Amino acid sequence: MTTAASGTGGALSFPPGFAWGAATAAYQIEGAPDADGKGPSSWDTFSHTPGCVRGGDTGDIACDSYHRYPEDVALMASLGLNAYRFSISWPRVQPTGTGPVNPAGIAYYHAVLDQLAGAGIAPAITLHHWDLPQALQDQGGWADRDTAYRFAEYAGLMAAEFGGKVARWITLNEPQVLESHGYRLGEHAPGLRDNDAAVAATHHLLLGHGLAVQALRAALPAGAEVGITLDSHPVQVLGDSRAENLEQARLVIDAELNGIFLEPLLEGRYPEHAGRDLVPPPSLVHDGDLEAINQPIDFLGVNYYTSVYLRSGDAADLRQHERKPRTTVPAGVVEYRPPELEVTPMGWQVDAEGLYEHLLRLTKQAPGLALYVTENGCAAEDYVTPEGVVNDVERVKYLHEHLEACARAIRDGANLAGYYVWSLLDNFEWGYGYQRRFGIVYVDFPTQRRIPKASAEFYASVARAGAVPALPAG
Ligand code: NOJ
Repeated sequence: MTTAASGTGGALSFPPGFAWGAATAAYQIEGAPDADGKGPSSWDTFSHTPGCVRGGDTGDIACDSYHRYPEDVALMASLGLNAYRFSISWPRVQPTGTGPVNPAGIAYYHAVLDQLAGAGIAPAITLHHWDLPQALQDQGGWADRDTAYRFAEYAGLMAAEFGGKVARWITLNEPQVLESHGYRLGEHAPGLRDNDAAVAATHHLLLGHGLAVQALRAALPAGAEVGITLDSHPVQVLGDSRAENLEQARLVIDAELNGIFLEPLLEGRYPEHAGRDLVPPPSLVHDGDLEAINQPIDFLGVNYYTSVYLRSGDAADLRQHERKPRTTVPAGVVEYRPPELEVTPMGWQVDAEGLYEHLLRLTKQAPGLALYVTENGCAAEDYVTPEGVVNDVERVKYLHEHLEACARAIRDGANLAGYYVWSLLDNFEWGYGYQRRFGIVYVDFPTQRRIPKASAEFYASVARAGAVPALPAG
C-alpha cells in the first residue's frame, strides 16, 4: 500500500517510487503510415474517408515521432519524467495482423526503447490503442471473435521481442470508447453504426484482453506487470441520494459506462444494471470466456477526464444546465452540469473531485490492485505569444487540481502508483484531427517545432519535488 504525507507549506507529497509519466499513442503521434513495411490500420482508412475527421485531417504526419522520437525522449528527460506510456502500432510490427513480424517495425520500437533506457525513463507499452490492422478490420475487426485470438498471438510476439526491456504492459486502451464510438456511434474507426457489432466487439475486446494476459505471462520475465486501461466516468447523485429513481439511474449509467468492462474483468460477469442491448448475449459468450476475461491483473490503468452528475428533473422540460440522460433510466432524472465547474474546449466539465472519488472507489472495489492514472489532462486554446511561449494557465490549473486530488486520494488510502499526463505532445485528436491540443508540449505542425508549455514546467516541478503545492484558497 502506498502512502502520501503532508509536506511543507501544505504541499502533499507522493510516495517514493511513484511513476511520473507522460502518455501518447501510435496513431496520434507517429506519422509514417506506410514506412518500412507498415500495413494500413483501421484509422488510416477511417481518416482518409471524406467526412470522418474534422478538416479532413489524418495521422499521415502527426508529430512525425517515427523520425523525431530522440527529441521527444530528450524532452521528457529534460522535464525530469521517469515513465513514458506509448502504444505499439500493431500493423507496423505485424502488417496484416497475422503471420510473421515486420523486422523494420520491430527495430523501430527497439530504438525507441533503447533511447528511453538511455534517458532513465521506464516504458509502459499499450498493445492496442485503437489502430487495428486493416486486414483484420476487413474481416469484421473486433466484432469477429477471431480478432481476440489474433490479438493474443500479437501480444505474445511483442512480449518475446520486448519483454527484456519493458516491465509494464497494458493490453487495451479504453475498450468502451472503441466499441461505442467505433462500432455503435460511427464517430471513430471503423465508423460503424451497428449495435450488434458493438456488443460483439465488447465481448471480443474483453476476451482478447484475457487471452493476451495469458500470452504475456507465458512470455514475460517474472516481475513484469500486466494490466488494462479503462476510461473512467464517476457517476454521482446530487440532492436526495436515497431517492429510488436517482439511485436506479446511477446504477444504470455507472454499469453502462464503467461496469460493462470493469465487472467482467474484476468479477467475471457482466453488470446486472446495464441495458440489455449493451450486454453481450449468451450466444457470444462461450464456455470459459468469463474465466479467461477474469484473469488476475497486476494493475488497472485509469483514464480520467470528467464526471457525470444526476439530479431530479424532467427530461421533457429541462432547466438550465440540465440534459437528457444519455440512456434509458427511470423517469424524473436528468443529467446536470454544475455551473461552478469549468468546461474545456471538448465540452467536458472539469471535476478533480471525480478523480479523487473514483480512485478511492476502485481501491475499495479491488483492494490491493495497483492503480495508475494512465491518462489525465485537458484540451485548451493554446497559442504561441510573440515572445515565443505558450502560457496555458487553464492546463496548469487543471493539472494542479488533479494532481492534488491524486495525492489526497493516496493519503486517504487509494493504491495509486503513478500518473501519466495526457499528453506529452499536441497530437491527432481522433475525430477532431488537429483542432484540439492536449499536450504539455506545443507542436507547431507546419515546422514540427516543439515548445514546452507552462504546464510542462509546472508538471516537471511537481515530478521533481514529488509533491504538489497546496491549492490556492477559495
Ligand atoms: C483518451 C484516449 O485514450 C486518447 O487517445 C485521447 O486522445 C484522449 N482520451 C483525449 O480525448
